[in-house]
Amino acid sequence: MESLKLHSAGPDETLALGRALGAVLEAGDFIALVGELGAGKTQLARGVAEGVGANPDDVSSPTYAILQTYAGRLRLHHADLYRLRTEGDLHATGYFDLVDEPNAACLVEWAEQIPGAIPERALLLRLTKGPGPDERHFELVAQGGSTLAQRWVAALPTRQ
Ligand SMILES: Nc1ncnc2c1ncn2[C@@H]1O[C@H](COP(=O)(O)OP(=O)(O)O)[C@@H](O)[C@H]1O
Ligand SMILES: [Mg+2]
Repeated sequence: MESLKLHSAGPDETLALGRALGAVLEAGDFIALVGELGAGKTQLARGVAEGVGANPDDVSSPTYAILQTYAGRLRLHHADLYRLRTEGDLHATGYFDLVDEPNAACLVEWAEQIPGAIPERALLLRLTKGPGPDERHFELVAQGGSTLAQRWVAALPTRQ
């Protein structure tokens, strides 16, 4: 699949995009969020949590917690690997048990930082800022046969 691109004009639009993504999320899906601090990874996660039927207020940046789980129609594991350095660090958190859990999906910030953190089948989402202060661009890259990007884009009210 060629890469797809989405645009957000502000935090509320990112929330709405996240809600649409959460609504089509299925057990076994893995989302790797790639982008600098403030790109909107956690903001998108808030929408995804709402889209799976969890409480978006439970979503804070897990930079310190590393791992959080929200319960909706499926379990959504939200991780932030910013403070971790090695695959050994990651093993110690129980991360790999969660990634393999049935009836759960994962959304991981800074996953690209640790080799092995991203499973073969994943949606890579690259977030970039600008040019306006509230503009964000999302590049969707499907890996290993992940169909999540197509499901997501098909669920959006208007193709962008
Ligand atoms: N279009 C947008 N989408 C997401 N966040 C935006 C947008 N425009 C401005 N922002 C702001 O950028 C910041 C994104 O923060 P956050 O989601 O925590 O980023 P990250 O998790 O990537 O470090 C928030 O303060 C949010 O209000
Ligand atoms: Mg964050």
